[in-house]
This record gives sequence, structure tokens and C-alpha cells, in this order.
Amino acid sequence: MIIGIPKEIMPGEARVAATPETVKKFVQDGMTVLVEAGAGVGSLFYDDQYREAGAQIITDAKEIFEKSSLILKVKEPLFNEKLGVHEADMMHSGQYLITFIHPASPVNHEMVKKLAKNGIISLTLDSIPRISRAQNMDALTTMSTCAGYKGIIMAADDLFIFMPQMFTAVGVSKPANVLVIGTGVAGLQALATAKRLGAVTHAVDIRPAASEQAQSLGAKVIETGVPAELAVGTGGYAQTLPEEWLKKEREVLAEAIKDMDIIFCSALIPGRIAPILITEDMVKTMKKGSVIVDISIDQGGNCAITPPGKKEVIHGVTIMGIKNIPGLLPTSSTWMFSQNIYNIVKYLVKDGKISLDLNDEIVRSTLVTHNNDIVHAGTREAMGLK
Ligand code: NAI
Repeated sequence: MIIGIPKEIMPGEARVAATPETVKKFVQDGMTVLVEAGAGVGSLFYDDQYREAGAQIITDAKEIFEKSSLILKVKEPLFNEKLGVHEADMMHSGQYLITFIHPASPVNHEMVKKLAKNGIISLTLDSIPRISRAQNMDALTTMSTCAGYKGIIMAADDLFIFMPQMFTAVGVSKPANVLVIGTGVAGLQALATAKRLGAVTHAVDIRPAASEQAQSLGAKVIETGVPAELAVGTGGYAQTLPEEWLKKEREVLAEAIKDMDIIFCSALIPGRIAPILITEDMVKTMKKGSVIVDISIDQGGNCAITPPGKKEVIHGVTIMGIKNIPGLLPTSSTWMFSQNIYNIVKYLVKDGKISLDLNDEIVRSTLVTHNNDIVHAGTREAMGLK
């Protein structure tokens, strides 16, 4: 089997789908690996290291797409401006693709149709089920870990004050107060990171299990009063709250946020628009110089005035709506991502070839295009297909 690792072409994307370490493992498993020249430079993995690991370095992206039976990428196929051709059109029938496709998102519908038309068998990493046997393939989780860590580091960097309590000859400074809203994967990592930096941590979540986990990381839990039966749906995930309860939650938060120096927003219902939990009026009551990091911005944001894709000071508060935070930690995020992708390939390959068991939950959830058809349930629904 020939695996192709093209260089990512999304502007600013520094990650790559394989490291020299995973290339070595693929080669040991009997595969041929083609890596585009310079593909790993953004995350500090160099061509010589890939060569030493057993890869062939190829200068022409087209050659990689042409020769490989499986393409591994980080981001969805995009139009390659330099070559004047869409990545999906460089692929051929029967070829496999594994990457984050975000196929349900309307901006990707045309590309997904192209994948189907061109006969590509594509699997998307954003639909790996959160079940224990798929844990080591779950790139959403590893990337949320990166976002939780790096998001707090960015907030601390923008703060006008120390994070920890400082005992100095001129006096003692108070530690910063950090509030994490939504303590799922990203939020828990944010709490742990803020704690390590010496902040006093506070947490809000509507799922009792998430609040317990936050507490075990030393955070003070702020109770919303939302009944568990309203908050938790099938599979233990949070579900959309009725507007009256969201209003009550905002009232509780309105009091809490006045004392905070950093607010980390990571509240989300899977597959939905993020709930608005901080209004503009609430921002006006926050301390000058405080920081909001709103990592739910891809789903619209938990703060009503988060600027998508950038950082702005609004009403004296620095508000960050920076996207692709894992890409700002490229070596670590690539290391984690490449391990996830190695594990999924290993899972799918039998006797040196990919063999898809369409009854398997992992395959069923992640498969997007197959036999020239769009088979991903969420995508079909979003496209209005039966
Ligand atoms: P998750 O599903 O593990 O956690 C979300 C948490 O929000 C859950 O614990 C849920 O109970 C909680 N929640 C839902 N509604 C709430 C409410 N009304 N009040 C309080 N808590 C509520 O999700 P994960 O993986 O931690 O991701 C969180 C967000 O971060 C998502 O929007 C995700 O897309 C985003 N993200 C952004 C990145 C970036 O670079 N900007 C990178 C990775 C993730």
C-alpha cells in the first residue's frame, strides 16, 4: 500500500499528517510512504528525518496524489492555488482519504460532492465516535487538549497581571481568577493548565459529571441550578437547554464574571451552534484588562461579541476568537494528530490493504463518500438528501 502525505495548503496551517516516528511505523508495517518535500517544516519535522525514517520525498504534490492508494491529511481538500487545481480533482477513483473533512458544514458540500463524483473513499476524523476502543484515534479530543492548553497560555500572555500569587519584598500579589465555561475535553485541560500556572480556578458546566471532574482538578464549581435531566441527553452528552434555563445560567454567570481575570469559553452541544452565555452587557461589567478566550467560535461562540478569527479589545476586555489554536502549537499537535491517524490506519488495514467493515461503528460513523455516493448521515441531512 502506498501512503501519500501532501503538504497542507490551507493558509497558516503548520501541521502535517505524519511525523518521522509514524512514517517509521508505517514502513515497518510494510507500507511505502511518500512525503511532499517540506511538508513537515511548519511543525519542525524535516525532509532528512522523513527520509531516514524510510519515506520517499517527492517534490510534486500531483505525483503524491497520483501514486498513493491512501492520502493522509490534516485539513479537508482545498483548491491548490499554486497548481491551479482542487486537491479533490488530483485524486482518483478507489483512492482512500482520511482527514478532517467537516462534511456537514455547508462550505464543504461542493467539495464532498466532488469526492463522491471522483470515486474517492473518504473518512472524516470529526466523526470518530467517542467510544473507548476509538480513543486513540480521536483527533477531536487530542486537538481539544491542545486548544485547552494553548488557549490559557495565550490568555495569560495577554493579561496585565501575574497568574500566580507572588510573594515579593514589596508585597504579595493576588493570583488571577480563571473561569472555564464548559468543562469537556478542552475545558478540563484549560483548568489544569491555569492551575499549574498558579491561578485560582472556577468552573461551570451543566453536566454533573463534568462538574465533578472540574472539582477533582481543584476548581471551584459554580452551580447553575440546571436539572441534570434537562442537561444530559443520550450517550451522556449535554443537550440544548430551553431558553428559560439558558437565561438563568446567564444570570448566575453575570455575577461570577465580574471577579474574573480570564474566561475560557468551551461550552458546546455536539453538532449544534454554541449557546450564548455571555452577552455584550455582561462584558461591560467585567474588569478592564481581563481576557476572554472563546474557543467555541467555530460554532458561533459562547460570547455574543467574540470577533471570529481574531483578537480585539472591546469594552476594555481582550476577546479572542482565534481559530485553529492547535495549529499554534504545531509540533505537539502534529505529534498527537499523527498518532491518531496512524492508529486509525492500523485499525483499517488487514493483510496490507484497507478493508472496510461497513457494519463497524467506527467505519460507519466516519465514512463520508463510498461507491460514488455520499453516505455520511449528518452530511446527507445537512444537504437535504434522503
Ligand atoms: P466537549 O463536548 O468535550 O465539551 C463541551 C462541554 O460544554 C461539555 O462538557 C458540555 O456539558 C458543556 N456545555 C454544553 N452546554 C453548556 C452550557 N449551557 N453551560 C455550560 N456548559 C455547557 O467539547 P470539547 O472537545 O471540549 O470542545 C469544546 C469547544 O472547543 C468546541 O466548540 C470545539 O469545536 C472547540 N475547539 C476549538 C478549537 C480551536 O482551535 N478554536 C480546537 C478544539 C476545539
